[in-house]
Formats: sequence, structure tokens, C-alpha cells
Amino acid sequence: MQYKQEFANALIQVLGEALTEENITVMIEKPKFNSLGDLAFPCFELAKHYRKSPNSIAEEIANKIDLKIAYKVEPVGGYINVFLKKELVSMFTISKILKEGEQYGSSPNTNKVMTIDLSSPNIAKPFSMGHLRSTVIGNSLALIAEKQGYQVVRINHLGDWGTQFGKLIVAYDMWGNEEKVKKSPIKELLALYVKFHVEADSDPTLNDLGRAAFKKLEEGDEGTIELWKWFREESLNEFMKIYDRLGIPFDSYHGEAFYNDKMESVVEELKEKGLLVESDAAQVVEVENFPPCLIKKSDGTTLYATRDLAAAIYRQEKYHFDKSLYVVGNEQTLHFKQLFTVLQKMGYQWQEGMAHVPFGMILKDGKKMSTRKGKVVLLEEVIKEAIQLALTNIEEKNPNLDNKEEIANQVGVGAIIFHDLKSYRLNDIEFSLEDMLRFEGETGPYVQYTHARAASLLKKGNYSFKEDNQPNLLDEEAWPIIKLLFSFPEVIGKALDDYDPSQIAKTLLEISKAFNKYYAAVKILDEDQLYNRLSLVSAVKIVLKEGLNLLGIQAPEQM
Ligand code: ARG
Repeated sequence: MQYKQEFANALIQVLGEALTEENITVMIEKPKFNSLGDLAFPCFELAKHYRKSPNSIAEEIANKIDLKIAYKVEPVGGYINVFLKKELVSMFTISKILKEGEQYGSSPNTNKVMTIDLSSPNIAKPFSMGHLRSTVIGNSLALIAEKQGYQVVRINHLGDWGTQFGKLIVAYDMWGNEEKVKKSPIKELLALYVKFHVEADSDPTLNDLGRAAFKKLEEGDEGTIELWKWFREESLNEFMKIYDRLGIPFDSYHGEAFYNDKMESVVEELKEKGLLVESDAAQVVEVENFPPCLIKKSDGTTLYATRDLAAAIYRQEKYHFDKSLYVVGNEQTLHFKQLFTVLQKMGYQWQEGMAHVPFGMILKDGKKMSTRKGKVVLLEEVIKEAIQLALTNIEEKNPNLDNKEEIANQVGVGAIIFHDLKSYRLNDIEFSLEDMLRFEGETGPYVQYTHARAASLLKKGNYSFKEDNQPNLLDEEAWPIIKLLFSFPEVIGKALDDYDPSQIAKTLLEISKAFNKYYAAVKILDEDQLYNRLSLVSAVKIVLKEGLNLLGIQAPEQM
């Protein structure tokens, strides 16, 4: 952000060649305590260069530095601490936000393309908690990348191919019922799949039938294909209900099956490049320090990795991506290591722009939430329950609200998303609807509620921003809010660099807390200061709303 940059520029003037400009910018920190000022620069690394103690270097620099945005530059314990001129910074930050509106923190178009592989559930199986995480994290990264000027392509790489479809087809032929599948496709198809495994335990010939059915599918047998298409369609319809509720769009639903006719050429290419070797009658590519990547089984059928290879090459040819993310659980880390290494060995430079973005599990009472075995937790029902709970809360707090249903939708869904995104993605998270729906504490509804509070203040005060009337806010209590607001663009940038939406979620919580503290301490609707204070309220509202939107959450005006 500009204050950091100005401090960096002033340091460059003094330091000359001692450090590069880039290094200086990276080294500037936020002091641990407010009493130490607003920005800090550590001098420890300079000690070698100048052959002096960090303390005396800090003193020298602090004396020489010329920084107009600061009212004090103070050397303390090897650091240079900068105290910003609050009125100046406040005025500048608030005006900037009010002028730019929802564009605040946006970067110009980069002409760069990012593909994001997200959600990607498996046909004929329930949409798992893991798929929910991938959907929510992937969507937020997509929104953040768009804000940073990327053109983003959201790809739902459906798991719609593989030997399990042979088994399912056999099970349906033997025990299936069309009406039942139509009525609740996922439940019914899963039940058939489970039954197949139970029966196959005592009658292993079923497995042969399953393999034979998959072979027929791979060979394009019409009847089998029809059945597969129908399963796919019914499942996808169910998944769409979830995407609709979450409000998440996709640009492509090309699943694994799409790559059926695109794998042979990849296998040929691997052969030509001398990368394919035989191991236990299977075709593999060696990957240093890791198990080899399986390309073809001994019976000639292809695998998950083969389809991902074809998909990566297809995506590069079609979208010319600069970056390509895979938002997929932790447990597939090896798979992506292998995938990226094979592409690198094939000589594809663009492979450097690819990244696996892994995440941890969702737990219930400390245990992995299972979508399998009898008691299937259907995600759609969980979402409905969250919305219902949100509605109950709203009935209690604000029974006269218009369009309660719609707002309950935004709050219920927002609560689930926020709960997921507020912790760093690699952490496991505990799933508790009651916790995530609380209006106080570190929840989505709390941030939404703060936003609605700001909206209501602006309405009460009949506020509108006038460009020629610069707000001049002198409240000491506003300063923590201002600092959070002016670092918001920087937070967005870091969230993308680290593929970590939790940095945005955490900032929103901090802004909400700081704002509610301010609200309690200062009479915002005071006549004399009305315009200045409501300008701050308006800036807070803009940033909260935009921040929530970057997480994929809506910000109701009332709740
Ligand atoms: N369908 C897979 C699963 O549920 C996830 C696919 C992730 N994307 C990919 N290109 N491999 O585990």
C-alpha cells in the first residue's frame, strides 16, 4: 500500500545501494504493538553491511529520513518505527475508498489466464465435505484472482469415468429400479454401489462382470453408454442444486470422460519422448524420489493420472493458462507431484505455472465426516438446515424484517462458507452449525451483521458522499479501523500469492471488531461530526461488502 511504498522510497534515499528496493519493501513490518507506531523497519540485516550495531544504524537512519506522511520516526531496539500522521492518512484512505467504491483494492487487467480446477465431485456418489471445501476455497480464489486482474476459468473436473461405473451398471441391471433412481439419484445409486460390494464379497464373479461392463463402456457400447449418460445427468442435476444454493458458477463441466479420446496421443507422446517404461506389466513414468506415475494398467486401461495429463495439455492448448490451480484435498499431494513432474519431463515449460492447492478435512466431534456407509450426510440437507437455523435467529432478533427467507438464505450459506474460509486451508476444521451461525464471535453472520449495522447508520443519517467535501476525521478511536482499511488491498494480494482466502476472512473479522468498538465508544450520529463519521462508516461498509464478496458471501443490507 502507498504508505509502505512511501516509507520504502524514503529508506531508499538514505540507504542507497545497501539493499534492493524489493528487499526493503518486503522487510517493512507491522509493529507488534500499537504503541510502537504503524510501520517498522528492522535494521539487523544492515549490521553486516555497515559494520555497526543495528541500534546505531536505526538511529542514524531515523535522523536522516525525510517522510512527510509521518509525524514521528523513532529508532527503538534496532527498529525504525514510523508513526503516521493520522488525519492525513485517514482523510486519504476514506476518500479513496469512497471514490473507488467496490473497485477499491482491484488491480488492472493483467491479460493473464488462470484455470482453477475445483469442486470436481464423483458421479453416482454423494457430494462430500471435501468437495464442499474444494468448491468454497476454489471459488474464493477465483474471485480474488479476478480482483487481481486475472481472467479466470472455473473447471469442474467431474469424476465421471473409471471401473466403478462398470460395477454400477451391473448393479443397476441386477437390482435397479428406474423410478427410485429418478426420485433420489445419489442415494439410490450409492445404495446400488454398496450392495454390489457386499454381494461381490461372497460372489467374486461379480467383479469380472463389472470389469466387462466397464470395457463395454470404454468401447462405446450404445446401451451401456446410455445408462452411463443417464447416471451422469441425474447426479449432475443433484450437484447443481448445491451449486445454486452456494451461488457458484462454472465455465466447464468437462469431467474425466471428456478425455477418453485424448489420452492415446498423450501415451504416444510419452513413448516418443522415451519416458514410458514397463513395470509389472503396467506402463509407467519414473518420478525421482517418488513412486512412478501409472499411465496404463496391464489390461490396457487408463487411469486417473492419464486423464489428468490429457486434461492439463488440453487446458493449456485451449486456454493458454499462465497459472493453473488444482484445489484438491491433501491426500492427493502425491498424485499432483507425479503429474507436474511428468509434464516437466515432457518438456512443458508452462508446467511451472501449475500448483496443487491442498486443504485439510472437515471433522465432526474430532472425526472425519463420512458421506459413506449407511448414514450418508447429504450436503444439501446440511445447507437447508443452516438456512433454517439462520431463519430462527432472524425471527428472534428482527421479526419484522422483509424478505426474511432470502436473507436467511444469504446468512445460512454465508455462515457455512465463512466457517470454512476463516481458518488456513490446511487446518482441519470442526463442523458445528450452531457455532458457525452465531451472530457474535468469529462468524460470517457477525461480519454480515456489522455490515448491516453500517448500512442502517448510513440510512438513519441520510448519508451521501460528496467528492468535493473531503471527510476530515479526527477520532483517535477510528485509527485501528483506518489502518485495517488501508491495508486491505495488500491483504488481497497476499491472499492470492499464498492461495489463502483466510487472510481476507481474518481481516474482515478485525475490521468488524474494531468498528463495533468504535460504535460503542463514539456517538456516530452526532450532529457536528455526522459527515466525517458517516464517511468512515460508509468506507467500512464498502470494504466489508467487497471482502465478503471475495469469499463468495453476500452482504444483506438488513438482517
Ligand atoms: N474427483 C476427484 C475426487 O473426488 C477430484 C478431482 C480433482 N481434479 C483433478 N483434476 N484431479 O477425489
